[in-house]
Amino acid sequence: MKEQVKEDLFDKVVALCKRRGFVYPGSDIYGGLANCWDYGPLGSQLKKNVKDMWWRNIVQERDDIVGIDAAIFMHPRTWEASGHLQKFSDPLVDCRKCNQRFRADELSEDAECPAGGKHELTEIRDFNLMFETQMGVVKNETSRVFLRPETAQGIFVNFANVQTSTRKKLPFGIAQIGKSFRNEITPRRFTFRTREFEQMEIEYFVKPEQADEAFKSWVDTRFSWYKKLGIKESNLRLRQHEQDELAHYAKGCFDVEYLFPWGWGELEGIANRTDFDLRRHSEYSGKNLSFFDPDTNEHVMPWVIEPSGGVDRATFAFLVDAYDEDTAVSAKGKEEVRVVLHLHPRLAPVQVAVLPLLRNKPQLIEKAKELEKNLRKHYLVDYDDRGQIGKRYRRYDEIGTPFCLTVDFDTLEDDSVTVRDRDTMEQERIKISDLRHYLDEKLLMDM
Ligand code: GLY
Repeated sequence: MKEQVKEDLFDKVVALCKRRGFVYPGSDIYGGLANCWDYGPLGSQLKKNVKDMWWRNIVQERDDIVGIDAAIFMHPRTWEASGHLQKFSDPLVDCRKCNQRFRADELSEDAECPAGGKHELTEIRDFNLMFETQMGVVKNETSRVFLRPETAQGIFVNFANVQTSTRKKLPFGIAQIGKSFRNEITPRRFTFRTREFEQMEIEYFVKPEQADEAFKSWVDTRFSWYKKLGIKESNLRLRQHEQDELAHYAKGCFDVEYLFPWGWGELEGIANRTDFDLRRHSEYSGKNLSFFDPDTNEHVMPWVIEPSGGVDRATFAFLVDAYDEDTAVSAKGKEEVRVVLHLHPRLAPVQVAVLPLLRNKPQLIEKAKELEKNLRKHYLVDYDDRGQIGKRYRRYDEIGTPFCLTVDFDTLEDDSVTVRDRDTMEQERIKISDLRHYLDEKLLMDM
């Protein structure tokens, strides 16, 4: 990518997101709600494709991991057991002059106060990040519930249910995708850090002596997943957590980081949570959550390796990484800047566009509509008959559509279409009867 593109990459991608319907500001007609974003038609499909590829790779293609979908509200004792009530907090300070709140660990000493001079800061205090609400109509201590700050706990409290109903033996994993909520003091950077977000998490249960090896293997597996889905290796790295940044439950953690336009940021953390959670839930619930090994006739308290990815972060990283500008020649022979998203075909929100060459020719429209209808059963398809064909190609390049199929007058004679490739811009004629085979190979490849 050219240096000049990189410079304002963030602004360009955010503008594209709104213009084309990937992501809109939340509650836009009311002036927006701070830090809330709504995924539009293309964004929600892209995000769904990211989740589908994860689920397929983690749950469908493996015989050692099963999926669940647990409730967001959980028994309040969950958060005592998990340590979140006591320890899930950030250090907060207020400025007495400008009344703004800051994370103490992020505020630089020479920060200027908007009210003039230096900030006048309060003492640091711990601010718990869990959102709290009341369940039911009576407001008292017993109706207090929290929006889950991680999906992981829905897995831990179901460990025994899942193990018993599936009869899985160690090592095995439970996977889940779902919303989590954290009342961040300083949410920022578009969908990167938001108070409401979606996680894709695996809790992989092993015998204690298997934990180190499983940890290494999951770090490799998860790093490769982003690469296989098209993220450039030069924009990915692994970073090991320092002791003082480890979460209260973790013995060790690696982050898969992406080089966002503002610098490196976490996409996914892979943590060794030891037996912390199962042991604590056993203690707080009074239910024994150890695993009975029929081979050795012994009970073991499993250790847990947790790959925990952010769906919104991954979705944004895939978008930014795919963004490019190159030059293309217009119908009038002029060189023009072409915006193109080189999204992996499995992630593209529109995989195939069907384009009749001219709008005012009923035979072409009818043929194109019939093709669109057939292909919709197999791929993510869009249809467009407005404007010059070159302009239509550009519109689909900009949203990452790998193939445009043009239905022209020859189609009516030879039952073939022109297939135009997003990345090479090359065109070839393909028989309609061969299209399924052609597109299956290009769009539905194994990972
Ligand atoms: N479950 C790990 C995290 O939410 O950070």
